[in-house]
Amino acid sequence: MCGIVGYAGSGNAPQILVEALKRLEYRGYDSSGIALHEKNGLTIHKKQGRITVMEEALPKLAATVGIGHTRWATHGEPSDANAHPQVDSSGDIAVIHNGTLENYADLRSGMEAAGIKFNSGTDTEVLPHLIERHYDGDLLTAVRTALGDVTGAYAIAVLHAAHPGEIVAARNESPLVIGFGEGEHFIASDAPAIVKYTQRVAYVRNGELVCLTADSVEISDMAGNIREPEIEELDWSFEDSERGGYAHYMLKEIFEQPRALQESLLPTLAEAIIDGLDLNWRIGSISIVACGTSLHAGMVGKYVIEQLTAIPVNVCHASEFRYSPPVQNVGGMLSARPLVVLISQSGETADTLAAARVARQQGSHTVAICNVGGSSLARNVDGILLTHAGPEIGVAATKTFLVQMQALYMLAVHLAYSRKGIDLPQLRRWEQELRKLPHYVGQVLERRSVITKLANSLTQASSLFFIGRNLGYPIALEGALKLKEISYLHAEGYPAGELKHGPLALLSPQTPVIAIASQDHTHAKLVSNMEEVAARKAPLLVVAQEGDADALRLSERVITLPASDPVLMPFTAGVALQLLAYHVAEELGCDIDKPRNLAKSVTVE
Ligand code: M6R
Repeated sequence: MCGIVGYAGSGNAPQILVEALKRLEYRGYDSSGIALHEKNGLTIHKKQGRITVMEEALPKLAATVGIGHTRWATHGEPSDANAHPQVDSSGDIAVIHNGTLENYADLRSGMEAAGIKFNSGTDTEVLPHLIERHYDGDLLTAVRTALGDVTGAYAIAVLHAAHPGEIVAARNESPLVIGFGEGEHFIASDAPAIVKYTQRVAYVRNGELVCLTADSVEISDMAGNIREPEIEELDWSFEDSERGGYAHYMLKEIFEQPRALQESLLPTLAEAIIDGLDLNWRIGSISIVACGTSLHAGMVGKYVIEQLTAIPVNVCHASEFRYSPPVQNVGGMLSARPLVVLISQSGETADTLAAARVARQQGSHTVAICNVGGSSLARNVDGILLTHAGPEIGVAATKTFLVQMQALYMLAVHLAYSRKGIDLPQLRRWEQELRKLPHYVGQVLERRSVITKLANSLTQASSLFFIGRNLGYPIALEGALKLKEISYLHAEGYPAGELKHGPLALLSPQTPVIAIASQDHTHAKLVSNMEEVAARKAPLLVVAQEGDADALRLSERVITLPASDPVLMPFTAGVALQLLAYHVAEELGCDIDKPRNLAKSVTVE
């Protein structure tokens, strides 16, 4: 998704903006640009392609105030003309935008009928023209009035040639954070962009505008009411978001998992674990709502919560949940308010945010499992279970997947204990098991060289299947997602029992099957499924726990996981499949941290 940054201070704005934009590369983009206040007005520099393409074309500039943008095309193809900033007819107003404007086509045709010439295919270009129309000497007021004319999602930043030193920014749905330095201020879509310069940040809320100079920050709403910024200190640093010697962020983040699990584990699960909401009420049902990898964590959570608490759990794609029919309380049948658990690494995923809103409107209690404390999701739910994986830069979710599953296990154990489904000694045993996770994950990481060799044997596949049963099924889905997003090989995750209902027709020596062999009550059934695969001469790779004789009998290609309680297998198998996907993609020479067409935070619907 697009990234926006802004700087007002006494430093070299072009350098700072380019550096900050590079920190947002993980969001995905196809072009970049900056606008600067210079002696004779605004200058705009923008280019299709990597940030370095724009950077290399930059002349030496000494500006101290400016805005910068990485564009992820939604309206109009990637091109120099469609890159941001977009400007008004005079070139005095420059706007950068993350989000989509729903009514831009109507606005644009009205303006074109009035003789205004448009130079891009973007929805954004209506904004500088609207601001120009409303400008009467006061930039903040002009931006506020212009935003009254648009509908949709946005985080924007605006410069006006007649207001040197000033940046006006605003947000509705798309994220925006302010950074507070010494004699300098920043804005950005995400804190990693500015953490090199400051760890003191404040989050802009929906419907708010910010007027920023080197010395001042003023936050106001659409009615003009002023709000004091609530400044927070980030608990992670620039070094935390650096690659630290690894070839890719993804690899670094895979190796950070033991620490992430350690930092996210709560000291005890006997007492309240959700910040802001007690769970001491009769929970009739739980819906887990999320997208992508977070959804797969939710599917793992479902098994564990249902096993431990007998509370029925359904898992929904956020993009479906947000349009599901409203819950009807027919004849008082809903005797207890449902609990909706929203899972999101970023806390900025548009569909998950909309789902949270719908859940609250429908009268559900909402809890977020989220890795970003100040995110939109964290601030729009009743309670929060924060994970502490640190910033995740690689587009492929890795460490946040593991801590999301850990958070769901903690929730399951807490719910079971508080409902007297398990007693104190059982609770303590669970706590002990969860404390072993970093150790087990560490053991998988030590087996990287075996996984690398096996990965090399998969690169020529025409298609791959990942199969599993019970807790192995969501891990199969996640293994397939990880592989396809970073290696561009086609892969599908399937419940192993479903193979013979269709996909078996596709098996051949060119379609490897990766089986996740949990040592649980479904193991014997999975062994039968693996036999079916072997009989079709499809190469079989098995992810199995130490001592799994069936795995060794059926295949020479086995990734051995440490022997743990089978309920912890999603963690160890999850890491093995992350490494497998990583090494396949590496062998194929893919752009692992920034896969094509994808964005880290999906802030549009
Ligand atoms: O930030 P979120 O957890 O809400 O993101 C959800 C998905 O977009 C995300 O998990 C996506 O599927 C990842 N790229 C998968 O690796």
